[in-house]
Amino acid sequence: MLARRLLQTRPAIAAIRSRAYATDARERVRIVEVGPRDGLQNESAVIPPAVKAELINRLTEAGLDIIESGSFVSPKWVPQMAGTAEVLKTMQRRKGLHYPVLVPNLKGLEILLDLLSEQPASEVPYTDEIAVFTAATDAFSKANTNCTVAESLQRLEAVTKRATKEGLRVRGYVSVVIDCPYSGKVDPVKVKEVTQALLDMGCYEVSLGDTVGTGNPTTVGKMLRTVLDGGIPASVLAGHYHDTYGMGVSNILTSLEHGIRTFDSSVGGLGGCPYSPGATGNVATEDVLYALRGSRYATPGDLNAIAEVGTWISKALNRTNSSRVGKALEARRAREQLERERERDGGSAENISAKL
Ligand code: HMG
Ligand code: MG
Repeated sequence: MLARRLLQTRPAIAAIRSRAYATDARERVRIVEVGPRDGLQNESAVIPPAVKAELINRLTEAGLDIIESGSFVSPKWVPQMAGTAEVLKTMQRRKGLHYPVLVPNLKGLEILLDLLSEQPASEVPYTDEIAVFTAATDAFSKANTNCTVAESLQRLEAVTKRATKEGLRVRGYVSVVIDCPYSGKVDPVKVKEVTQALLDMGCYEVSLGDTVGTGNPTTVGKMLRTVLDGGIPASVLAGHYHDTYGMGVSNILTSLEHGIRTFDSSVGGLGGCPYSPGATGNVATEDVLYALRGSRYATPGDLNAIAEVGTWISKALNRTNSSRVGKALEARRAREQLERERERDGGSAENISAKL
């Protein structure tokens, strides 16, 4: 039933997409907004589901079309994601958009499937996609999911098979593709092998995670070359670059040169991984969109509107906005606001400098 409903929506979406390609000479870059999941999972304060749902609504309004919306992981391991069911139930969902959620095991999938089965058939499904995650090293896999890479692949194969049978799309993640916080430098051959295993079990795409954010164009380029030379096409790969060392945008530009066209990013640069000490958030969505402005790549979303969402969520969480572009646009909005006030006040220059 659920499978049928999900499959029925796809031809229409494909038709819209192919029309977009036909009229747009620029190459389309997909952005997977991960702020509501990767971002919020790392906040120390408990965030009410209403704030999370509001974040997703605002990102949708700002024009993003793939928004990772939460996780069905153990609340003992990541308490910040505990309210995901409520988030999915209360947020506004638009037909044709995707709201993937992380699922680590069959238990998480069962919880999600139960939730989906409660929905009336007439409604837009809470989600049509899950993301499964593993790593390129045993040390990280054990810290993050309490099992080795081989054990996690076995576990995820069962999850992927069941989910695809139910009509859900499955995306895969490989963490620590450059450095592991526990075992150091990572062999790109291992990244290629784990990526291939995820594709073989049925993932439609694999996102390569520089979880620690230590990668630079040289190391990311080398890793990608190994994966691509190993026979994996760029069309099934995505880049997921944490911005700890400020290399996120550079790593995306390098990945574009290697043919990758899908990138994960986080509004306001929110986030990190609870099991990667010291790592900061993903590359900011605002920074990615600004970097590609005027290029031959078309990106989804309205940069100014997304930057406003970044300002709003940073204030709501009482944190500094980590997006350089977001902060620059915030300052510009403040200047423009003062300018408008000056016009209303009758042009008092003193008034402006006092406020600045
Ligand atoms: P475990 O402790 O080995 O599992 O954890 P368990 O089967 O022994 O279960 C322990 C308890 O959790 C039990 O409860 C289970 O019922 C419950 P108890 O009997 O003690 O009351 N449980 C669950 N509850 C709800 N939903 C579930 C679930 N599973 C078990 N799905 C497990 C193994 C995989 C569950 C755990 O390690 C876990 O949840 N890990 C997730 C960690 C995580 O979410 N990390 C962050 C996301 S990954 C990431 O950020 C990286 C990424 O961004 C890419 C990158 O940057 O590289 C994607
Ligand atoms: Mg991440």
